[in-house]
Amino acid sequence: MSVSNFPGNPSSASTGLPITKVTVPALAEMKRQGKPISALTAYDYSSSRLADEAGIDLLLVGDSLAMVVLGYENTLAVTVDEMLHHTRAVRRAVRRALVVADMPFGSYHGTAAEGLANAIRFVKEAGAEAVKIEGLRIELVRMLTEAEIPVVGHLGLTPQSVHRMGGYRVQARTAETARQLKADALALADAGAGALVLEGVPREVAAGITAELPIPTIGIGAGPDCDGQILVYHDLLNLTFAPAAKFVRCYADAGSLIRSAIEHYREDVERRAFPSDEESYHLPEAAKKGMAAAEKAHVLRKA
Ligand code: KIV
Repeated sequence: MSVSNFPGNPSSASTGLPITKVTVPALAEMKRQGKPISALTAYDYSSSRLADEAGIDLLLVGDSLAMVVLGYENTLAVTVDEMLHHTRAVRRAVRRALVVADMPFGSYHGTAAEGLANAIRFVKEAGAEAVKIEGLRIELVRMLTEAEIPVVGHLGLTPQSVHRMGGYRVQARTAETARQLKADALALADAGAGALVLEGVPREVAAGITAELPIPTIGIGAGPDCDGQILVYHDLLNLTFAPAAKFVRCYADAGSLIRSAIEHYREDVERRAFPSDEESYHLPEAAKKGMAAAEKAHVLRKA
């Protein structure tokens, strides 16, 4: 029996066969085998359940939820408690994918001990199976790894550094910054990170890092040569209200579908076409007769 198929593991509703849970070591194995890793952001129960059933390997409860779910202009405002709330919802939905929680801005920017304490909350209180942190935080990555918490690093365009970067700009565009990015990636792997998100970097730079790094790279705006790819759920389905970035591929126009379904519902309500008689509950015959008899008796008493 494979250790990943132990009896407590979930089984597929359709086949009854055990579902093999995706783990951080499984991602490393996928890199070794040259098998691309599919990843997507996730924020709530229903969408996570659909993504898990669609076979996505890694679901990231991204702090992008600050923008796409909560409507903030950047990711900085979202709190640990808000991220925990969404991570719990995702965790309840997911049976197979690896659930990674994004540590929000401010939750690991003080001492490494504070970062560790916050990361422990994601594992203990929300069921996260790994945490993601942006930037080069070697001491924290070491501490988390020693505390048995798998870490996903995030380098390149790191949205929590929006003010330092002066906007969302492609990073590592010179030979010197590309060399530095590779050195940072190797240092994170050396400190124990289990995977690395590379965001907003030239294809050639991501390809070079992917080839040298012992851990999987997951790209977003980093070209096709990474070990895996991640997109923001709302970008993939056109549920955003801003022009899409160059790297986004929109696979369905759920925004138009949802808007038109809601318009249709509103029109039906306005012309009293919803609900129909078939969509209404009815009294049982005996109760109808009882009511009619009571009504008749009432009329007779009054007469
Ligand atoms: O928060 C997020 O959605 C992310 C991905 C873009 C990698 O960090």
